[in-house]
Amino acid sequence: MNTHSFKLDNTMAKRNILVTGGSGFIGTNFIRHALKIRPDWEILNLDALTYAGNPLNFDDLNEDNRRNYKFAKGNIKDSQKLNEIFSQTNFHGVINFAAESHVDRSIAKPDEFIETNVTGTFRLLEASRKFCKSTRDFRFIHISTDEVFGSLGSEGYFTETTPYNPSSPYSASKASSDHLAKAYFCTYDFPAIITNCSNNYGPYQFPEKLIPLMIMNIIEDKPLPVYGNGKNIRDWLYVIDHCEAIIKVFEEGTPGETYNVGGNAEKQNIDIVHLLCKLLDERLQRTGKETSCNLIEFVTDRPGHDKRYAIDSKKIREKLGWKPRFDFMEGMKLTIDWYLDNMKWVESVRSGTYREWIDTNYKDRGKSL
Ligand code: NAD
Ligand code: TYD
Repeated sequence: MNTHSFKLDNTMAKRNILVTGGSGFIGTNFIRHALKIRPDWEILNLDALTYAGNPLNFDDLNEDNRRNYKFAKGNIKDSQKLNEIFSQTNFHGVINFAAESHVDRSIAKPDEFIETNVTGTFRLLEASRKFCKSTRDFRFIHISTDEVFGSLGSEGYFTETTPYNPSSPYSASKASSDHLAKAYFCTYDFPAIITNCSNNYGPYQFPEKLIPLMIMNIIEDKPLPVYGNGKNIRDWLYVIDHCEAIIKVFEEGTPGETYNVGGNAEKQNIDIVHLLCKLLDERLQRTGKETSCNLIEFVTDRPGHDKRYAIDSKKIREKLGWKPRFDFMEGMKLTIDWYLDNMKWVESVRSGTYREWIDTNYKDRGKSL
């Protein structure tokens, strides 16, 4: 195993960072947050603008932040585009968020998951490797998921040494891309670092994932489809805490290492849905018999549905001094407020291909939306 003791040279005045998939949920939060707290970063966002990417997410940047932000429409599978981008700018870092990210979509149609998550990551690694001259001033941060580890029983936690055991086409494709990033470190001394995080929630999340879907369906008085018995457990992480962990890893992490990032907030899905009903009922003044809990419908379970995810994030806490700042209730309230204040954003993302997809795929699963 190679030993890289080089620390990233953090003394440079300006940093050029290539963020891929920056118009999606976590990428948007990451870029907006980094522009605020790292005024010496210049960020280029390369995004293919799939159904999950919204270029309008940066329309309201202030002038200072706008000066440090550029957008390029492009696909991480496109080697020619990548070479063009790398030949124009001397990057200090690549932060790879670009991916197909929704498990249900991967079950219905896995093709694009393999294309983007596996082939796309490979092409991005290859272009970055050609360009990267020294470990002292370059990092490739590959953003991955705890889903690569498969499912936990009722006890225990995922650590960085938990064997990979993915269950869905999504998690299998992310596992493949993690292996590629690790192989590039081992084979080429390429300074890749992987983060495996738990389920994120917060502003700008496409309303197909559990929390924003439920928020929107409650607001719109639509059924709340809970898979199976609703007892599956996820470990929730507020997206800004995740963004801060990524900045830590970029600036202080060790090449070749992986870091687990989790919010220490394990919840059963049904408890999340009840909590959202309660918080939104207060905001929407629904009382007594009108409670949104009446909208809950238990529907056919997701095939291969992982029972429980829970992250042990001791390594990043102890080695890099990161810890989450937002407690779960605070994060949930901020998230609900954001959706209530940004219904136009929801309309803009839903008016794309999303509706069509729901109509063809969700009907088959007995879900009514
Ligand atoms: P998202 O689906 O909201 O956004 C993905 C973004 O990538 C979109 O802007 C999309 O347009 C872009 N994209 C897709 N294919 C592309 C391609 N071939 N080339 C360039 N851009 C492309 O995803 P997210 O929730 O923001 O997740 C970001 C990353 O974090 C993903 O790699 C995901 O696997 C990982 N992750 C997410 C979570 C979570 O809870 N959301 C948890 C763990 C890990
Ligand atoms: P999701 O947000 O799709 O994230 P992931 O599958 O990557 O963990 O789902 C979170 C949990 O919520 C998961 O156990 C599946 C469940 N779920 C529902 O019960 N109903 C829904 O409509 C969705 C989208 C998810």
